[in-house]
Amino acid sequence: MPMQLSPRFASACLLVAMLAILLAACGGAGGQPAAPTVMPTAAPTGDPARGEQIFTTSDCKACHMVTDQKLVGPGLKGVMDGKGQYGDKLPNGKPLNDKNTAEWIKVGGVGKLGQMPSHPDMTPEQLADLVAYLHTLK
Ligand code: HEC
Repeated sequence: MPMQLSPRFASACLLVAMLAILLAACGGAGGQPAAPTVMPTAAPTGDPARGEQIFTTSDCKACHMVTDQKLVGPGLKGVMDGKGQYGDKLPNGKPLNDKNTAEWIKVGGVGKLGQMPSHPDMTPEQLADLVAYLHTLK
């Protein structure tokens, strides 16, 4: 008879149900952190607006146009799309990607065109912002 379901039995059922949900939630959460930890390393997300500000207030502008015109360094238009001086490479010969570009800006180097100075005081965040800005130069 349905009437025989005691409140105690009902709350026991509830408890089991809640445990099951909790376990499911834990199982799901266990798998989740893997995605966010992979994402930032694959594509560090900078803020292009902040990057533009850094570009104009730092020394970049003194040597780089954001068009395809050369100043001291090459014009940076389309550089992150592989349309720069070195195609899918950086002046130091490394593959063109966000990580290597950030490193190039920080460390500087010499290529066929000349010397790019290092920027040792730039934080990883500033570098990511700069790279994000470079991506907007089409
Ligand atoms: C004193 C001049 C100078 C300054 C300042 C400078 N650069 Fe450069 N940069 C160069 C030169 C020269 C090259 C090219 C090196 C070569 O190819 O021989 C270059 C290359 C680059 C490249 C690679 C371009 C390509 O076609 O692969 C990027 C990206 C870049 N610079 C970004 C920056 C950023 C961002 C800043 C500011 C934080 C900056 N540069 C400041 C001179 C400069």
